[in-house]
This record gives sequence, structure tokens and C-alpha cells, in this order.
Amino acid sequence: MVHGGAGALDNVKDDKTAVRYLEALRRILEHGREIMKLGGSALQSVEACAALLEDDPVFNAGCGSVLNENGKVEMDAAIMDGRDLSAGAVAAVSNIANPVQLARLVMTKSEHVMLISDGAMQFAKHCGIGLAPENYFYTQDRIAQLEDARRKHKIMLDHDSTEEDSEDQKYGTIGAVARDPQGNLAAATSTGGIVNKRLGRVGDSPIIGAGVYADNETCAVSATGYGEEFMRTVISKTICDFAYMKSMDAEQATKAGIEYLKNKVNGRGGVIVIDNEGNCASGFTTKKMIHGWIEHGGKVNVRF
Ligand code: GLY
Repeated sequence: MVHGGAGALDNVKDDKTAVRYLEALRRILEHGREIMKLGGSALQSVEACAALLEDDPVFNAGCGSVLNENGKVEMDAAIMDGRDLSAGAVAAVSNIANPVQLARLVMTKSEHVMLISDGAMQFAKHCGIGLAPENYFYTQDRIAQLEDARRKHKIMLDHDSTEEDSEDQKYGTIGAVARDPQGNLAAATSTGGIVNKRLGRVGDSPIIGAGVYADNETCAVSATGYGEEFMRTVISKTICDFAYMKSMDAEQATKAGIEYLKNKVNGRGGVIVIDNEGNCASGFTTKKMIHGWIEHGGKVNVRF
């Protein structure tokens, strides 16, 4: 499963843009399936899918990341392996083309789970990852979005509407979850965060248990939404706990998790979930969520 952000998405009014999102998801899902067909693991598949989403400027991650209060890109990402709960995360990194790949390196080549900011970038250098130039990240849309947010003196959520109090918002983040034929689960999440955010603000995406979680005994989860609400409810782990403690499948655990998110903090956003039997589920409190899935090796489904 993959997702490309939650929200009302009324801002995507023309069919051409909608098709653009859906075609990207379809292509990336096929790519993820191909990796596993060729013997790759769920972990390899989610890393590759998340990296492809980071490479597409329409999504709020990697090169399409939104800008912070200083007009800079600061990105967060995490990856988790359900086989042994190993995990890696990076927060507030700049000039990294694929933060999810750096998160994977934190997991496999350091003794830590999370590295932040300059330390994470120093580690990238140590691992031989070159820095991407500033202009790799700056799209006209993102600059206009920041100017709009500054004019209104507000923090905006990715594709926020210019209308005050409108629900026309897209809480951008990208993510992928997978189960491979061996029954192993993995999850990855990556984001540029929210528009005009404070320097140093970190959202839910790199927080293990909030924006991402995977455990072979239960589920793999990737979240997209207003990070602060997802952190306060530790939503990804909460969904896995529902599955574990109440013997719920992906659909039941997702429903219970989304109800919890709504009732506790009126959380805005959504999740994609695969359980240990390969059942796919999605849930969101926003009007829509861009996501897609291939269940039990069947056909590709994409939703807007
Ligand atoms: N869910 C993305 C963020 O709040 O940063």
C-alpha cells in the first residue's frame, strides 16, 4: 500500500492533476510488487516505493517538500522492519534527496534509531550520500504556498486552501507498507512537514509508533496527517495494539484506531495498514486520502 497525503483535496480541481496523482501511485505500486516478485523483501519494497514518492515533486516529501518559516526545507522520515522491530529515522534534515534511504542507513549502519539535523547530515556524508543542491527542492508551488502562509501569519498544512476556515487541506506526507510472501511486514513514512512550520519542528513521521510502525505479529502502519495529533495518540502503535490485544484484523484495527484519533484529539489525517495475513485497510478523518493498494497480489487499486 502507498499513500500520498490526506485532506479534502478540493484544491485538485482539474482532472489532469488528479490523474497525475493516481498514475504516480499506480506506477509506484507496480514497482513495489515487482521488487517482491523478484525476491525482494517487504523492507526493500517500502524503501523503494517511499523513495519514488520522494522523487515526485507533487508529493510533500523529498524534492516536493514544503518550506519552513525561514523558507528552507527540513524533512523527516522513518522506516521499520516488522521482523525484529528494528527501525531508523531522521528528523529536520536538509539537502538529502531521499530521507527514507538515510533512515534505512541509520537502522542498518548505526547503533541508533534516530539522528537529527546536522548529525544526520554528517552521518549521510559518512555513508557516502551526497548532498542535493538547494534548487533541487524549490518548486514554484512551494514558494507561493509559503508566501501565502506568511501573508496570513499562519502555519499551513501542505496544500491548504487560501480560504479561511476551509476544509480544503491536504496534510501531506508519503508512506508505504508491505507484506512479503514470507509474511514479513515493513513500513516507511517521509515528509517535508507543514508549511511555514517553526525551524526545528518535527512531526509524527519519524517518530516510531506515531507516524510509522511495523510488527510481524500484528500490522504495518504508515500515517499522514496533522503530526502533533498523531504524536499525542501514538496512532500507528495504537492500531497495532488494537490488532494484538483484541485480535483484530487490519480493517477492524484501523477503524478502532481512527475512532480513537477522532475521539481523543479530533485528529486530522489518515493511515494505511496491512496486517500479518496481507489484508489491506485504510482510514481517515479527512474528506479524502490519496492512497492505493494491491491486495493478495490482485489488481492495483488507487483512490483519491
Ligand atoms: N504528518 C506530517 C507532519 O505533520 O509533519
